[in-house]
Amino acid sequence: MNKKKIIIYGPNKLSGDVKISGSKNSALPILFASILSKEDIKIKNIPNIEDINITIKILKNIGIKIIKNKNLLINAKYINNISFKYNLIKKIRASIWLIGPILIRCKKIKLNKPGGCNIGKRPIDMHIYALKSLGAKINYKNNKINIFIKKKLNSNIIKFPKISVGATITSILTSVLIPGITTIYNIAKEPEIIDTINFLNKIGAKIKKTNKNKLIIKGVKKLTGGTYKIIPDRIETGTYLIAGAISKSKITCYNTNPIFIKSIIKKLILSGAKIKIKKDFITLNMNNKKLKPVNIITNPYPGFPTDMQPQFTLLNSIALGKSYIKENIFPNRFLHIKELNKMGTNIKIKNNKIICIGVNKILGNNINATDLRSSACLILAGCIANGNTIINSIHHIYRGYENVLKKLTNIGAKIKILNNK
Ligand code: EPZ
Repeated sequence: MNKKKIIIYGPNKLSGDVKISGSKNSALPILFASILSKEDIKIKNIPNIEDINITIKILKNIGIKIIKNKNLLINAKYINNISFKYNLIKKIRASIWLIGPILIRCKKIKLNKPGGCNIGKRPIDMHIYALKSLGAKINYKNNKINIFIKKKLNSNIIKFPKISVGATITSILTSVLIPGITTIYNIAKEPEIIDTINFLNKIGAKIKKTNKNKLIIKGVKKLTGGTYKIIPDRIETGTYLIAGAISKSKITCYNTNPIFIKSIIKKLILSGAKIKIKKDFITLNMNNKKLKPVNIITNPYPGFPTDMQPQFTLLNSIALGKSYIKENIFPNRFLHIKELNKMGTNIKIKNNKIICIGVNKILGNNINATDLRSSACLILAGCIANGNTIINSIHHIYRGYENVLKKLTNIGAKIKILNNK
């Protein structure tokens, strides 16, 4: 899917109802986890987004059977090769989750360093630490990571020095089939991790989460098949709620789960929004009131999610008064700031702090998207800006937001695709 350049005619109020899709950051680890089973697995509520399409290509290329229609059927009984196309691997950070399952199934894997959003260096030292703790041997040759098992993998104790979503998933996928007890300390607790654990336990794994950021994994001989439904996407939900907040209007997100976004809801209420929640929907209503600036510090779950930082930076940039957002997770998640300032915002960066002095209105301009969440921030900025906004390289947004142009048009955005190449 290309559609790299769009024009947005502003300003337009965004209001109405949005159906939330399945979580990208749940669907990805669950797809890679499916490699560990040799039986039929049906996954429901899979979002139709680029990162999933790329993952399906990677898995099909090694012989895994996948049929995707409303649901996704996968059977990883046969893996007929383990040569991975670099042009696919480099596109998504999630490709790192091939390592554990392929190591278990094929005893070795050679992989380029995975890609992903341009939001900082994206080291993988904690993934490597977890793999080595479980007995994997690792060397590097012409920019490839070569991982193999000399004798066998062994259960062990893993103590992460820092919380990492990705490394937590790698340690889980690598240890569920290792005989014995593997204990993992200082795990990430994002809902998507819990979803992956619930999926694995549904197909026969024995993973127990204690309330002390600890997992106890009892290795099993094999995993079975089964059916599993992915949780709703909490970041997509938060993004559309921000669309309503910056439009001073009313937005309802349904097919979602408010429990996963308590930290976002808390900040939206502080920005002046009225929020109504039920089991599977959330309504935000600004009642045309002025936005209040809100100070934010991003942290691992249940803290405020870094994936909502660009969107909230936009909100603060048009909320009169001074506010800051401290970005504690990614050292370079600021590329949207320069683009927003081209539209008349007044935002400065000091170390890892974003400082906003709110302005009354922003103006359309010709800007560049650089990664998934900054694209979401910029497309919303274009919707509320006075005049037209051209966004180049908007294709990043298709990686993580299903039917995004249609969903935005349905709530009042005026967007045209300028070219398809
Ligand atoms: C996952 O990235 C998500 N991606 C990110 O979402 C999300 O922002 C991030 O977790 C934090 O919640 C997927 O799930 C596919 P980390 P990941 O390992 O696993 C450092 C989006 O927009 N680190 O928790 O890469 C790392 O550099 C994407 O959907 C190491 O130093 O995040 C970062 O500063 C963007 N060494 C911090 O830890 C390592 O070995 C947290 O990274 C691994 C990570």
